[in-house]
Amino acid sequence: RQFGSLQDVLTRVDAANRVHPKWNESMKVISNFLEVGEYNAIAATGMLWDSATAPEQKNGYLGQVLDEIRHVNQCAYINYYFAKQGQDAAGHNDARRTRAIGPLWKGMKRVFSDGFISGDAVECSINLQLVGGACFTNPLIVAVTEWASANGDEMTPTVFLSIETDELRHMANGYQTVVSIAYDEAASKYLNTDLNNAFWTQQKYFTPVLGM
Ligand SMILES: [Fe+2]
Ligand SMILES: [Fe+2]
Repeated sequence: RQFGSLQDVLTRVDAANRVHPKWNESMKVISNFLEVGEYNAIAATGMLWDSATAPEQKNGYLGQVLDEIRHVNQCAYINYYFAKQGQDAAGHNDARRTRAIGPLWKGMKRVFSDGFISGDAVECSINLQLVGGACFTNPLIVAVTEWASANGDEMTPTVFLSIETDELRHMANGYQTVVSIAYDEAASKYLNTDLNNAFWTQQKYFTPVLGM
């Protein structure tokens, strides 16, 4: 449903066979590592929906839950497309197994998983919407789409930039979370520690990855 017209265009331009073979190999490692963040983002945002009482706030979180479900599908779709239409299916057709040996996977699991499901709603928001969404999805997803298009890959930019447009909205949920607890002494006293931990944990993975 989501990809009907996109699939039509990609087939007409024979997109999968215009990708540089080495990029096709690189995508076996890259295409599956973002999914864990999207999947755990569903859990984090669901927890925030549960914790909030203001209807406006609940509405923002609910919108994000739906977006993150869409993003999980989109990550899977990229693998599906490469496996079905691409030059060499092996590795794309068993993405979850392949990522277990991928060099990017273990770090991604640490930065875009643990902090999103820490069990504390505000800590989840700081990790997911404020530091993850606002600081790192932008350089990460934009960088990947730039490398992809430089290597003849039209599929990845089309799908990943659709994800990133949602992430811009999710940053606003992070802002409203911080504003909503700023005057709550019990919650705000942990804010600085949460920020320090989230920035340190995520930058020590993403800074070298984005410089590669
Ligand atoms: Fe997402
Ligand atoms: Fe998001």
